[in-house]
Amino acid sequence: MTPQHITLIQQSWAEVITIQDTAAGLFYQRLFALDPAIRPLFTGDMQSQGKKLMQALGFIVNSLTRLEELVPVAQEMARRHVGYGVEAAHYDTVGAALLWTLEHGLGSGFTNDTRDAWAEAYGTLSQVMKDAAYAPA
Ligand code: HEM
Repeated sequence: MTPQHITLIQQSWAEVITIQDTAAGLFYQRLFALDPAIRPLFTGDMQSQGKKLMQALGFIVNSLTRLEELVPVAQEMARRHVGYGVEAAHYDTVGAALLWTLEHGLGSGFTNDTRDAWAEAYGTLSQVMKDAAYAPA
């Protein structure tokens, strides 16, 4: 991840938070359309879940310049997710729903460079999370 990638992610995130409730709604709608089997893993109120997601993504976006702080938090989060019934393959579906949400939420502001930056960052982060949660002991 280059400094330019981090700037693109942080700039686009600043736009996403102006429509954060809409973005969270779009994200879960897309996620459940891509894989309806994921829906029953969510047992609580989806509005408050949306807020938790946006808060966590905000923390991640703001920590991209401090990976030594971000990595242990992401690893711990991934281990908690095992208890929610989340499987390694779900991370790709979540990544696809996230990119779709950014594209539809940001419109023309979502350039190819911004897409590449998010795709690479999510790919790296989700790999760290999967390694922490599913690697053989
Ligand atoms: C970067 C990736 C992800 C982030 C930032 C994220 C964020 C969160 C947050 C903040 C929570 C609240 C509870 C907690 O912190 O432990 C949560 C819960 C949850 N997440 Fe994620 N998540 C991610 C990936 C995933 C994936 C891949 C799935 C698979 C479908 C998933 C499904 C769930 C479920 C089922 C819950 C529990 C909902 C409930 O209690 O009803 N998450 N997530």
